[in-house]
Amino acid sequence: MTTVSTTPTHTTPVQPVPTPQPAMRLREIVFGAARSAAVRAAARLGVADALGETPATAAELAGAVKTQPVPLQRLLRALSCYGIFTENADGTFAHTEMSRLLRADDPHSLRDISLWCTEPWTWEVWPRLDDAVRSGGNVFEDVFGKEFFDYLHQDAHESAQVFNRAMTTSSMQSALDVAALLDLTGVSVVADIGGGQGHVLASLLEKHPSVSGTLMDLPGVIARADERLREGGALAGRATIVAGDCREGIPVAADLYIIKNILEWDDDSTRRALRAVIAAARPGARVVVIENLVDDTPSMRFTTAMDLLLLLNVGGAKHTRQSLVDRLSDAGLSIGEIRPVNPYLHAFECVVPG
Ligand SMILES: C[S@@+](CC[C@H](N)C(=O)[O-])C[C@H]1O[C@@H](n2cnc3c(N)ncnc32)[C@H](O)[C@@H]1O
Repeated sequence: MTTVSTTPTHTTPVQPVPTPQPAMRLREIVFGAARSAAVRAAARLGVADALGETPATAAELAGAVKTQPVPLQRLLRALSCYGIFTENADGTFAHTEMSRLLRADDPHSLRDISLWCTEPWTWEVWPRLDDAVRSGGNVFEDVFGKEFFDYLHQDAHESAQVFNRAMTTSSMQSALDVAALLDLTGVSVVADIGGGQGHVLASLLEKHPSVSGTLMDLPGVIARADERLREGGALAGRATIVAGDCREGIPVAADLYIIKNILEWDDDSTRRALRAVIAAARPGARVVVIENLVDDTPSMRFTTAMDLLLLLNVGGAKHTRQSLVDRLSDAGLSIGEIRPVNPYLHAFECVVPG
């Protein structure tokens, strides 16, 4: 990774960003696409990775990331308006807390999440939001001619990889929180349904050496499962990996089923997936559903935006506490405690009735 350290070479006055008045604020909001595109461009170019601890000029950074210096300065100045990088009085740019999060090597990196939220397909569906609000259904199939996940795995391999990496980042960050929260007393086998690459499962197996587990997800996802779970991995002896559509059936017997950030799609898929879990599980088995709630989060702007994107791509939604309770009880689960996992996630503890 290139790290530029440099001596400033020219002077540019830095204007303070005023607190916007309503008209100015609305103008800024309607130009949100420019802001998203700027973050995406910086992430793709690796600007945050190239900037070290010493401030650097746009010309110096341009050499490192192979761009033209003036457009890069314009990009950095646009981002600096939002606190992503900062422009010094001498014309150099420096890191801020937010720009550091765009580095690939930051332990809390949001680089892949930034790319995922701005992937090319998103720009095709956002203009159709009014249609989705009118119809209440996804527009993805109309625009791309197939279901979202089919498109992702069949036609958009780079996007699928970005998705997997973004999910990995957020799963890794939340897996330890889930492992810390869940009491596995009496559990011998745990299954993570739609468990992505298996970070939650791996964290649980690492924490509980007597527990074994199954990861189930779509074939294209489990092909890149966490190497700890794969053949030759440290947990492979206690891990089974199953490919399949969890709406079609779940060929896994477990004491505890985890369903994390899955029930955000259309209601029919939610119903079918929950029915499949109940059909697979023995009476008394635990089902823990973990979701971001749209009515109980410190990150309302992010979660409501994701809620709209879910409407567009899968006709889905982020749940309110009540809408999730309704779906879980409609499926026939007995709902117990609902607890925060961390500031962004809640766990709904359920039991398969006898
Ligand atoms: C938002 S991700 C959540 C991943 C993981 N549970 C986590 O919290 O990190 C949704 C996951 O559901 C998987 N998925 C989507 N449709 C599925 C299906 N029909 N059957 C099984 N998994 C599915 C996706 O491949 C993806 O890994």
